[in-house]
Amino acid sequence: MSCKAAVYPGTFDPITNGHLSIVNRALKIFDKLIIAILNNPQKEPLFTLEERTYMIKEVLKDRDNIEVDSFDGLLVDYVVRKNSNVVLRGLRAMSDFEYEFQMALMNRKLNREVQSIFLMTDYKWFYTSSTIIKEAASFNGDISGLVPPIVCRKLKEKFGY
Ligand code: PNS
Repeated sequence: MSCKAAVYPGTFDPITNGHLSIVNRALKIFDKLIIAILNNPQKEPLFTLEERTYMIKEVLKDRDNIEVDSFDGLLVDYVVRKNSNVVLRGLRAMSDFEYEFQMALMNRKLNREVQSIFLMTDYKWFYTSSTIIKEAASFNGDISGLVPPIVCRKLKEKFGY
C-alpha cells in the first residue's frame, strides 16, 4: 500500500514545542498527519482527553492537512483503520531509543504492513518532555518557550498559579 498519511501517536499530556517541531517537519515529508491522542485513563494524565484535544486543535488551527483524533486499543489496528501504514515518532536522547525500538518491533510483529518512521528532535528540544515540563510548571517554574502560550496558560490554571 502506498500512503502519504502518517499517524503521529502519543499521550500529548500536554503538547510541547518539541512535538510541534516534529509535526512541522513531518508535514514536509507526508501529505497529511493524523495526530492520534492515546485515550487511556489508566495512565492518569494531567489533562483530560478533551483538554489535550482542544489544546492541539487550537495550536494547529491554521495548519492544513492535520487531523486531530484519539484512539484506544492497539496502535497498529488504529493505523489500518485510518488507511495509513506509517507510525511517526520523535526521537530525543539515547534514553528514548530502547523504548522506541521495543515498541517499533512489537508493532511490526503485530502488523508487518505498518512501518515506524523516526524524526530526530531539534537540538533545542533535546532535554524537554511533557513530563519534565509538567514538573517544572507544578512548582511555578518558567516554562515559556517550551510549550505554546495556550499550553502555558492551561498549565498555570491546572496548578493554580
Ligand atoms: O507519548 P507516549 O506516551 O510516549 O506515546 C505512547 C504510545 C501512545 C505511542 C503507546 O503507548 C501506544 O501506542 N499505545 C497503544 C497500545 C499499543 O499499541 N502499544 C504498542 C504495542 S503493545
